[in-house]
This record gives sequence, structure tokens and C-alpha cells, in this order.
Amino acid sequence: MSSAASWRTHVCGQPRLENQGEEARVCGWVQSRRDHGGITFVDLRDRTGLLQLVGDEDTPQECLKALEGLRSEDVVQAIGALRLRDAENANPDLPTGEVELHVRELEVLSRSETPPFEIDDRIEAPEELRMKHRYLDLRRPRMREYVESRSQANQILRGVLHDANFTEVETPILTRSTPEGARDYLVPSRLRGGEFYALPQSPQVFKQLCMVGGLDRYFQIARCMRDEDLRADRQPEFTQLDMEMSFVEEEEVQAVVEEVVVSLLESFRQKAPPSPFPRMTWQEAMDRFASDKPDMRNPLEIVDLASVGSGLGFKVYDDVLAAGGLVRGLLLPNGGSLSRKEIDSLESCAKDAGAGGAAWCKVTEDGATGPLARFLEGEPGQKFIEALEAEAGDLVVTVADQSRKALAALDAVRRMAGELLDLIGEDSEILWVTDFPLFEKSSDGSWTPSHHPFTAPAASDIPHLLDGKLGEVRSRAYDLVLDGVELGSGSIRIHDSELQGAIFETLGISPNEAASRFGHLLTAFQYGAPPHGGFAIGLDRLYALLFGAASIRDVIAFPKTSSGSCPLTGAPSPVDAQQVEDLGLAVLEALPDENLPSSSSPN
Ligand code: AMO
Repeated sequence: MSSAASWRTHVCGQPRLENQGEEARVCGWVQSRRDHGGITFVDLRDRTGLLQLVGDEDTPQECLKALEGLRSEDVVQAIGALRLRDAENANPDLPTGEVELHVRELEVLSRSETPPFEIDDRIEAPEELRMKHRYLDLRRPRMREYVESRSQANQILRGVLHDANFTEVETPILTRSTPEGARDYLVPSRLRGGEFYALPQSPQVFKQLCMVGGLDRYFQIARCMRDEDLRADRQPEFTQLDMEMSFVEEEEVQAVVEEVVVSLLESFRQKAPPSPFPRMTWQEAMDRFASDKPDMRNPLEIVDLASVGSGLGFKVYDDVLAAGGLVRGLLLPNGGSLSRKEIDSLESCAKDAGAGGAAWCKVTEDGATGPLARFLEGEPGQKFIEALEAEAGDLVVTVADQSRKALAALDAVRRMAGELLDLIGEDSEILWVTDFPLFEKSSDGSWTPSHHPFTAPAASDIPHLLDGKLGEVRSRAYDLVLDGVELGSGSIRIHDSELQGAIFETLGISPNEAASRFGHLLTAFQYGAPPHGGFAIGLDRLYALLFGAASIRDVIAFPKTSSGSCPLTGAPSPVDAQQVEDLGLAVLEALPDENLPSSSSPN
């Protein structure tokens, strides 16, 4: 048996031609074993790669037997001499493919059961099974690379921020409610029965307190927890690169974010857009792309058809326009080539997004065809086609509905049409979206902050705030968008307690409620708060894009399913009655399994 200090002389991925003749001691997992009548080959794997072990007539009998008894995922130590493989056995696809370890001694360090899926990038096991046995999934080269790349990326961004005089600060996990607008995860306090900590939805309040504390430039790789409906790019706990800076304007915060993103893109994609990144106001993004996170690789743009659409005698358009809604459309160049089924799928994606439907026509040399065609005769029809600059062979898809639904549908149609017509450019496109509205109307008609309530209004729009024209107040918030994914968001903050009080009042948050939720920040602001602003990048999303991962779950070592559960540990789980009692709580009724969100499978 080897002593722990000398388990290995080489790692599996290391030996090369020049190592032939060396004595080697390697450890790893059995990838595969092949027996060829008296000769046994074993591929041994560790995080650095694969090395071929071989046993033959020159191998001691006992050792050959042990080699023959190996099964996938057994952990072994092999000792022997590195030698050149026969020409016909060399494997040019493997970095170690010119050599092999001629085994003299073999020790099985740990046996493995038959794994529930093969440790092989080419084999796609069901994701929930991979999550249940994440330690096996992490042995796959692709998953291991994601974990390693994430570690390298964290190093890179720490380097950039330390060089720019940022201080890394850890803020509390057991805290009180933070303002990001999702539901909190609560933790009951045993020592103060009946009271709860909230897990942070972001370190928003603490990073602002760091600025009041004079730290000037703060960052943290911060874990955030939000109890919200999960989507493909959301996890209940996720990681942000969180930053805050004092005495800065928007451009200075954005410049630091750009430096971080460029460094990462250069390291992982070998190509980064020039800094400063392009900027677009929220209004322009909504008008041209019906989205506050437009995918700029998609060349399709929205056309406002309100004026040309009103003269057609099409009741759907007329009714929507009379009710203050939108009539907008998209010209799909050469979209006439789409099949009926594909056009139907565009229509149903508009419906799925909430709109009543999508009226369309094909443009041909002899006029329009399709459901819209009968409204397009004569001069009004001509003007409609001209407004879209449509030519023979094109397809026109229009949506008429109230603003929110129409925009959601146009966004969905634009995304799907871009895919169907194969229009999405190869090169990544990054974009700042600026000048967001400060407030948005929620479905019950009340105003809520578009970002969070600490976002500063644009100075020029403060009169609208005072006049109660809330829909017209722009904010000093900005989002960073990469290929249609919101990578992060930030803003210049309010540092004046009076203005902050006015915003709370506007949002219907009473002084008492404000004091109870954010009193610590408001009090801090009374002791000299510097003007400040910041940003948070969603690192899971950024890393998934950087590494080309299929989902954010792939770049999280131990992710959760779409119903927020962890198949590996079984969390969340019932606890002892005694624990519940110690916390001064009572479980009224366990939720039957069928009431859990639709499925426990990852989305
Ligand atoms: P925001 O709430 O926009 O801003 O979050 C910033 C970024 O975090 C990522 N993100 C998520 N990623 C995975 N799963 C989730 N559930 C999830 N939710 C958000 C997104 C998002 O753009 N405190 C502010 C930032 C600030 O103002 O400085 C904040 O948290 O990429």
C-alpha cells in the first residue's frame, strides 16, 4: 500500500512521448476495460484526462487478474513503467495517446456499483438523474470543464476589480427582507421565537450601507435567494457579481462592468466587442424590438402600423386602436417560403404570449394572399404594404392588442421568426439598455418600481414625479443585454432621504412600513450618504453564455430543479417535530405532493 504522500507521480492526462521509460504511479477512475485474449487494456481517468493501462504476459499473474476484474468507476492505483504504444495502438485523438502504463502493481482503492448512467459526454442521461447523482455527472469532462471554467472566471473578475481598487466584502445571509420584489425565503429564529430572518434576494441594502460606510468601491460574488416562479434562466439561489461605487455617474459604473465583461469574453471566447458597448434607450428598444432585452443578432424590426392600419376597414385593428391599443407588425424577408405549419406556429406563439392572435399575409407579384389580404385592396392596402417596405416573397405578421400583450406577442414572434428564417447572426451582440421607466403598472393597476425603490429618477423628470405623472418618469437604471439575455442591471441610487421618502409615498409604502422594512438604510442616509450607484451581473447566466452551456443549471455545481428541489439531498424536506417546536412553530398541514408546482423535473 502506498503512503498518502506518494500516491501519484503523474496525473492521468500528463504522460507524453518524452516520458517513456519512466516509473509512474497513477490513480483514477476506470473509464473502460477491454480484454484481448491475455492482454487487458484499461482507460484510467482523472480530472486531467485519460491514460491507457495495459497488462500482458509480462505482468504478474495476480496483477493481471486484478486488471481483468476491474469495472467502470472503480478507483485504483496503478504502478508500472510508461512505454511507447505499438504504432497500431497509438491514439492520435488522445493527448496521452502515444504512451501507455505497463502495469506491475494494481491496488483497488474503492469499488463502484454500476453507475446509473455512463460517464461519457456523448451519452445524454435524464437531467433529474444527473442531478440526483451530481458527483457522477461532475466526473464527465464537459461538466468538469464548466466547474473549472467558473473558478477561472471568478479569478479573472476578482483580478480586474482588485486592480480597480474594489474591496471584496461579505454581507450577511441571515438578514431582513431586501427590495428586489420576489418572495423571501424565511428562516425562523429559535432564540427569538416567532421572528424570522429573510435570506437576501440581493445584497442591495448592504452594498449601499458600504457606501455610507465610506468603502468607496465594493464588490462581492454574492449568493442571492428568491422564492419566485422559476424559468429556464432562473434558479431559486443564484450568484451575482455585485458592485457599488461612490461619487460616480452611470458611465463610470458601466465602464467597470465593461472591463469585467471584456476580460471574461477575451479569456473564454477569444473575441470581445470594443468598449464602450452600444447603448439604446428603453423606449427605442421597445419601439424597434418590442423588448427591453432585444437580441441584436436578430435583424427583424417592429413597424408601427397604427396610421396605415386604421384605414383598412379591418375591425380588429379599428377596435384595438379605438381602445388605445397598438397595431404593429414585422416584415419577414422571404417569409413567403415558410410553410403553413410554420406560419401557424408564429400565430400560436403570439397567442401564447397573451395576444388575441396574429393577422398575416404573404406578398406576391400579384398582390397579397392570406387572411389579411382582403383588407389590403386599393390605395390604403398599398400604403400598408409600402409602410412595411414589403416585396414579393415576403411575409407580413401583425399583432393588434393592448400595449403589454401586443409587445409581448411581437417579441415572441420576432424571436421565433428569426429562428425559423435562420436570421440570427453568428457573432454575439452586447447592448446597454438605459432610461428605463422608474415605475411600471402592475396587473392590479398599482405602480411598482421597475427596478427597486432605491433607483434614482432622471433629474429632468422629477417635475413629473411631483405632478403625479408617474408613467412619464424615467429612471437612472441600466441593464446589460447579451444576445437577448438580461445579464445584469443597476442604477444610480437615491442618496437623499427626503427624495427616498417621496418615492416610498408614491409607491404607497407608508412611512411606518418604510421604517420597518428599510429603516436601517433611511437612518444611515441621515448621517452623510455619498452619491452612489452600482450594478449586479447574473453570473450563472453570463457563465452559461460564455462557456456555451445548454442551461444555467450546467454551470452550477449543485443546482435545483424547476420546482426548487434538490434531487441529490432531497431538500426541502420535513424536519423533526422537536425542531419545529423549538422554533416556536407548528406545521398546520403538509402539502400533498400533487399540489407541488407542476413537475419536479428541471425546466
Ligand atoms: P436584478 O434583480 O435585476 O438586480 O438582478 C441582477 C441580475 O441577476 C440575475 N438574476 C438571476 N439569475 C438566475 N436566477 C434568478 N432567479 C435570477 N434573478 C436575477 C439576472 C439579473 O439581471 N440589486 C439589484 C442590482 C443593482 O441594482 O445593483 C439586482 O439584484 O442576470
